[in-house]
Amino acid sequence: MPKRPKKTALKAEPNAYGGPSATVPGTPVRVGIVGAGGIANQHYRGYTTAGAEVVAFADPYLPTRERREKEWSIPGYASVDELLEHTGLEAISVCSPNAFHADATVKAARAGKHILCEKPLSMSLEQCQTMIQAAQKAGVVLQTGHHLRSNLLVEKARSLIQSGALGKITFIRLRQAHDWGGRKTVAPSFGLLANSGGGTMLDNGCHMFDLARFLGGEVANVFARTATLGFDIEVEDVAVASLEFASGALGSVENAWTATGWEEGFWVYGTEGALECTNRLGKRVLRHAYRSSPGTTWDKLDETLYNFVDEGGHSREIVNFIRSIREGTPVVCTGQDGMESVRLVLTAYESAKKGKPLSVKQ
Ligand SMILES: NC(=O)c1ccc[n+]([C@@H]2O[C@H](COP(=O)([O-])OP(=O)(O)OC[C@H]3O[C@@H](n4cnc5c(N)ncnc54)[C@H](O)[C@@H]3O)[C@@H](O)[C@H]2O)c1
Repeated sequence: MPKRPKKTALKAEPNAYGGPSATVPGTPVRVGIVGAGGIANQHYRGYTTAGAEVVAFADPYLPTRERREKEWSIPGYASVDELLEHTGLEAISVCSPNAFHADATVKAARAGKHILCEKPLSMSLEQCQTMIQAAQKAGVVLQTGHHLRSNLLVEKARSLIQSGALGKITFIRLRQAHDWGGRKTVAPSFGLLANSGGGTMLDNGCHMFDLARFLGGEVANVFARTATLGFDIEVEDVAVASLEFASGALGSVENAWTATGWEEGFWVYGTEGALECTNRLGKRVLRHAYRSSPGTTWDKLDETLYNFVDEGGHSREIVNFIRSIREGTPVVCTGQDGMESVRLVLTAYESAKKGKPLSVKQ
């Protein structure tokens, strides 16, 4: 009798840095947040998890400042310059629109502060380089906010790939897309080219291009297409890029602001197995499919499902940042990594403009 395919559904594994155990020992790092909008709140919560202390923030918009001062019970300043004068600051999170990342990062590095800068690191390679050099010169940590590297499902996927469980990697598909929660317009910080530097391929794509490198190694060339179909904006709201990795594997990055709801997923195919992970089928699990049972049919596979209590991307990214400051652990996503993802996005834009594949020039 042929053996039945094996199905292993693992019980939810606890978070490596979940709950109080996430606290990084030592004197709490005193942090300031630059830009107090949507993502800043994730940073605020992450610092609380890590046992750090958010002591002040900066935001030029008075109503946001007043709201956050009440919510967070800390002083808000109108500019990064004033924030950097706040006594005892050791680190800052840059959560302002893309156009202001470089200015805040360079000023903070010159003031000797460690920096966690939101993605994309900046809007040009020259600016990224200046930011990296400023941090190196000051001897401070510069981490880029590609939080998916700190997601437990991604970490598990990477360790399975590196263990050889998938054989030779042949194709990696990455997708991040949404519809702005059903809104009919896009906020000016994202829809105006001067503020954002690009549309969904920069905003969502930079995460996916970073994941491409994290899971598949360096990308050798890119062929992209972009379009603006859903919104009246200056930047693209749908994009696809096909990739060729230095290893010879192929891949694709899909991004959209014209999806229905929130979509985030990655699929990695190898000669010995596949990894599938998407948020579209309920709580996200990582499915590892393979064939070890003889006599199975085309659609019956052996599989192991990986499942965590909490994926922990944003909070673990902050814990990792604090650990790099306090314990000197390697920076989970460096300034250089941030710059490489910007390089891939810019190459993809150039490719879309020229209508041909382009090699990624280092
Ligand atoms: N890692 C992620 O998954 C993720 C998710 C969302 C946004 N982001 C990134 O975070 C950044 C902010 O995005 P958001 O969604 O929070 O936008 P947002 O518009 O909600 O917030 C931006 C805030 O920055 C303030 N601001 C504007 N100019 C400033 C300046 N010069 N200095 C300081 N503050 C300034 C605005 O008043 C606003 O409160 C962007 O770079 C975005 O790409 C990352």
